[in-house]
Amino acid sequence: MKDFRSDTFTQPTEGMRRAMYMAETGDDVYGEDPTAQKLQRMAEEITGKEESLIVSSGCMGNLIPHMIKGGRGKEVLCAPESHIVRHEIGAVASLSGTLPVLVPSKDGIMEPDDVEKNIHGYAYDMSQTAMIETENTTSGLIYPLETLREIKRIAKEHGLWVHLDGARIFNASVETGISVRDYAATSDDITFCLSKGLGCPAFSILSSSHEFIREAKRCRKILGGGMRQIGILAAAGIYALENSIARLKDDHEHRAAISEALSGTGWADVRISSTNMIFFTSLYPMAGIIEAFRKKGVLFLEDAGMGRIVTSLNVTDEDTDEMVRIIKEMDEKEFTA
Ligand SMILES: Cc1ncc(COP(=O)(O)O)c(C=O)c1O
Repeated sequence: MKDFRSDTFTQPTEGMRRAMYMAETGDDVYGEDPTAQKLQRMAEEITGKEESLIVSSGCMGNLIPHMIKGGRGKEVLCAPESHIVRHEIGAVASLSGTLPVLVPSKDGIMEPDDVEKNIHGYAYDMSQTAMIETENTTSGLIYPLETLREIKRIAKEHGLWVHLDGARIFNASVETGISVRDYAATSDDITFCLSKGLGCPAFSILSSSHEFIREAKRCRKILGGGMRQIGILAAAGIYALENSIARLKDDHEHRAAISEALSGTGWADVRISSTNMIFFTSLYPMAGIIEAFRKKGVLFLEDAGMGRIVTSLNVTDEDTDEMVRIIKEMDEKEFTA
């Protein structure tokens, strides 16, 4: 099967597995795992933040800032399409008590004016805006740097914290040539994932100030995320940061080729095509389309009523050519068969 479901299905490569085997380890809850320490120092270099912390997952990297800067009676302004709203089981609300306030957006990208309109301060009977969340990339789309900068400027004017869900920030960075450090400067904290396009089996990183990370460590412990000899997994992260960033460009080229083929059909309407993701609609039921492709050995998913095709380390040049051929030769009758 050719797997276009998600970049979370990527497998550790041989080189990554070797690095994991060789990793030096210690008890990370006591801050004594040298490989975890090295990965955190690398993340600080990349993001330009004072300190970094390994967290179990992207969800944890999103939740902890809401535990620290949000809380009961506090609001986070975010796009309706954001991962914290759609795909995290309401954790920021149920576990941190923070109320997500949905700012109108275009496919997940908020305009600074719309963000500002939703900010409000103290009133005895209202929850209070505490933070703003941006997501880059969001559904594969890249936030314009100027928009992020303006959102941060507005946030500071109102004394608000900015959290950046940068699960796929490296996809944005290799595509635009803008450094992760420059993107990270538009937020007070940033989380990014090692376990998606970068191909690691687990982990995300949370980066911010010393003071924030000190508190983040306590939150991670509360959530059961204090782990011991994690150097084995951290070694995969180091390997990925050293070897897997530049190749994300290949994923973007594969996505562009597939998107072009889809656009040439009479049955797919490509709505989003950016970095490593394509979202498309069709007059045919999406379940029928997905099944027709599955029968030809290709997997992809439905997300928010659209077909979603994701390119990643799982997808070779040959897989892309094969996908393009299948799209071009697909008979629409097969969607209803
Ligand atoms: C934008 C974004 N943020 C956060 C996450 C959560 O990551 P994890 O699955 O590692 O918890 C995902 C997962 O796909 C994501 O796409």
